[in-house]
Amino acid sequence: MDIQKLLATAKALREIDLGEIYLLRDTAKQEKPNKHHLLKQLYERLERERKCVLYESASGYVFGEGDPDSPVVFVGEAPGEEEDKLKRPFVGRAGQYLNSKLEEVGLKREKIYITNVVKSRPPGNRAPTKEEMASCLPYLRKEIEIIKPKLIVCLGATAMKGILGKEYAITKYRGHIFPYPYDTKIKVFLTYHPAYVLRNPSADKEFTEDLRAIVKLIAEA
Ligand code: URA
Repeated sequence: MDIQKLLATAKALREIDLGEIYLLRDTAKQEKPNKHHLLKQLYERLERERKCVLYESASGYVFGEGDPDSPVVFVGEAPGEEEDKLKRPFVGRAGQYLNSKLEEVGLKREKIYITNVVKSRPPGNRAPTKEEMASCLPYLRKEIEIIKPKLIVCLGATAMKGILGKEYAITKYRGHIFPYPYDTKIKVFLTYHPAYVLRNPSADKEFTEDLRAIVKLIAEA
């Protein structure tokens, strides 16, 4: 650039209305959806509508938690006793075991997002019925739509049924990848529920293998 052009550029820069630049920058910032805010709104909607059943028999809803920018969402079945008490997913025995396994493969619990198909504890920790799942699924789908993960990890058969709308034999299909029916860019990975692994310690090896495969899929995404 010659000196005349340089001087003209310097003059033009001096004349620019900086207010406009800040406005443009702030508008660009606002356009990025605030996932925390959208999830909070969804939680408020869940509480307001009470369409996801089992609310009354439990002591309220347990919503998903974690990093909304996570590339991976772990989905469980329904809150248990401890989760119902603390209003947080996977904080009981199965949750503590899951946390230790996540750590073992180098995943930080606070860096992932974790939620359930059903948002209230079924009485006596029984499996949720088809109708109960159907009443809560719109909220789970919306959570996923907001987070837009690269990968959904179904922990056990109920999560798989909720996410894929179909049952697959978990022992046969664990470690397999399916497209998410509502957004085929998202992969769905099936593995055991941590409570199953606690009851069947011989499944721990496969569960660890699956978690290592998940770490690899996240790195590739
Ligand atoms: N089991 C689940 O499926 N979800 C929880 O939050 C806790 C235990």
